[in-house]
Amino acid sequence: MERPVSADRCHRTLAERHDVIRAIEPAVAANLSLLLPLDRAWQPTDYLPDLEAVSWRDEVERFRTAAETVSDELLVVLVGDMVTEEALPSYSVALNGLVRDDEGMNPAPWARWLRGWTAEENRHGDLLNAYLRLTGRVHMRAVERTIHGLVASGFNPQSQADPYSLLVYTAFQERATRLSHGNVGRIAARHGDPNLARICGVIAGDEARHEAFYTRMMAEVLEHDPAGGILAFRSMLRGRIAMPGRFMDDGRDPDLFDHFAVVAQRTDVYTVRDYASIIEHLVTTWDIAGRAVTGEAARAQDELCRQSERYMRLAERTAAALAKQPPRAFSWIRDRKV
Ligand SMILES: [Fe+2]
Ligand SMILES: [Fe+2]
Repeated sequence: MERPVSADRCHRTLAERHDVIRAIEPAVAANLSLLLPLDRAWQPTDYLPDLEAVSWRDEVERFRTAAETVSDELLVVLVGDMVTEEALPSYSVALNGLVRDDEGMNPAPWARWLRGWTAEENRHGDLLNAYLRLTGRVHMRAVERTIHGLVASGFNPQSQADPYSLLVYTAFQERATRLSHGNVGRIAARHGDPNLARICGVIAGDEARHEAFYTRMMAEVLEHDPAGGILAFRSMLRGRIAMPGRFMDDGRDPDLFDHFAVVAQRTDVYTVRDYASIIEHLVTTWDIAGRAVTGEAARAQDELCRQSERYMRLAERTAAALAKQPPRAFSWIRDRKV
């Protein structure tokens, strides 16, 4: 027997939520254009020195010289972002929960989106990996070990197999990565590395299209099932959105993710304030306040509308606490402290 989504006290079962996911398939099909056609898609090579050119040595030299301007702090954040991107196989497995693609070549719109999305995301880790390797600024073996461990440890978006929660989670994460890559790019430009600025900019552009897709699909869900959508949104936020890279492990620092997150906060790449602003954005974009719901969903609606305010207050306290954090050694940069 199909179990109801009990945590939300929602009357719809998971099977009925999957029916809604199937019912919005025409919207999925209409938004497949958010994937770039293959002929127009960028590839990592477009942003890297041309190793086939006669002048490859000069190109690599210039690339490495520009990268010398990037601070250790920014490198640590970039490695953490890259490791998170490189764990893509885990996210593809998780998102398969939206569509049962048992054969792997299902022609249905959801399956086509997920394959196209995976193909676009696959370039992010590739490009950041190549940048870091070519610059010679980081201890690549330590970075690779971290990626290997993260993929092997798996990933749990805490969605409890609920497709609505998966959509909320992914819309949130696409916006978070867009902000984060965009910020790294802007800081890199300030430091004096236009190559890294371009690289992060083009990746952030992909994340923006992906964000648009998942945000629109969740809006479709809310049209079909406002109460269920609101309850799923609240249940994701109550658990605090679990970050995809949180199990990263370099075999040295048991709190590696937390230490990486501190540096991301301190460099203003991704902060508690950003977390709050994403929640605020989603609450507004999905018109949570305007949905006609009753009972438990109405209570969830109230709670969601107050969330970002709560996190904004937390942001002030967090910033103060972080100012007191001592510098930490990162294996990724040969134990230099940041
Ligand atoms: Fe990505
Ligand atoms: Fe993404």
